[in-house]
Amino acid sequence: MSSSIEARTINEEKLMNFLGKVVGDFGAALSSTLAYIGQRLGLYQAMAGAKPMTPAELAERTGTTERYVREWLINQAAGGYVEYDPESERYSLSPEQAVALTDEDSPFYVGGGFYVIKAMSQAQPRIMDAFKNGGGMLWGEHDPDLFIGTAKFFRPGYTAHLVAEWIPALTGIEERLKTGGRVADVGCGHGASTIIMAKAFPNSRFYGYDNHEASIKRAREAAKESGVDDRVTFEVSSADSIPEVEGGYDLIAFFDCLHDMGDPVGACKRAYETLAEDGSVMIVEPMAGDTVEENFHAIGRTFSAASTLCCTANSLALGGPALGAIAPEKALRETVMAGGFKEFRRATETPFNRVFEARR
Ligand SMILES: C[S@@+](CC[C@H](N)C(=O)[O-])C[C@H]1O[C@@H](n2cnc3c(N)ncnc32)[C@H](O)[C@@H]1O
Repeated sequence: MSSSIEARTINEEKLMNFLGKVVGDFGAALSSTLAYIGQRLGLYQAMAGAKPMTPAELAERTGTTERYVREWLINQAAGGYVEYDPESERYSLSPEQAVALTDEDSPFYVGGGFYVIKAMSQAQPRIMDAFKNGGGMLWGEHDPDLFIGTAKFFRPGYTAHLVAEWIPALTGIEERLKTGGRVADVGCGHGASTIIMAKAFPNSRFYGYDNHEASIKRAREAAKESGVDDRVTFEVSSADSIPEVEGGYDLIAFFDCLHDMGDPVGACKRAYETLAEDGSVMIVEPMAGDTVEENFHAIGRTFSAASTLCCTANSLALGGPALGAIAPEKALRETVMAGGFKEFRRATETPFNRVFEARR
């Protein structure tokens, strides 16, 4: 001990436990870079459903260098991302690892997260500067893997819950969309949510809006690829000035974006103005607690980090209120009510999302 104060106050067991946790975090942080490499180079894909293989076999299959692959596989096995059989000295993916790491259509796919982590880590110099000097960083200023990763990361949750649970939890909206309604998807990004809804409700019309031009371009391509471009249009538009449609929108959706915005009250006001008679606004927000300490778990840790590096920074760059990714329900309710709405309720939730409904 370097001082008598430390000798009196430090509990060795607590210190060792804490250091063990930090070392685990070192491994996790570095390994997420290797998981990103695995995603990009198709290393997991090559192992999914294949027989156990040696590093040389995996390298040959993926056109990569054996020496790096050998080291990568040890890291992956140490982290529980792949299985290792010491007898045959071969590596494999279990069905569970394969689905989570390679199957983009599965609700359990997590590969997009590694793109997000890679991109957000690169924002560190800008964000550190903002800690000291104020200001922020716009969504569109991030590494492009943020946009790709966000779409990949959120799509599985939308596939699993949006049509089956979230829309039915709203007041009379499912029926309107079945017969033919109008839907605005505000802050739509690459349009994953818009396209999922358009596939499920072919009689309805869908309008995706985002103020990030590159995302709208990608969303248009995705709509064509999915064969829904007859009923979906994507336009560059800020949330506070989305175009009106005749009869108003039956549903206006904000997926994981209201808390990012520079003017979330303005976005809610515009939703209020453009909503159809008896229409609903669906606001999907990350799961978060109502008190600070309710966020002290793995999900709260992840969302508060993403919020610091991205969501809060986008709003602050625009002089906004910076609701942040872990905005408590009270702050979201006040924002929506300030937009003119009279009703606001939590319609449903999943372990990762809160789904709110606002009505006039
Ligand atoms: C975290 S991403 C979510 C994208 C998409 N909704 C999804 O769930 O995959 C937030 C999106 O909100 C968009 N956004 C932020 N502020 C906006 C504003 N004022 N008007 C329109 N879009 C906005 C960003 O460009 C970005 O695409």
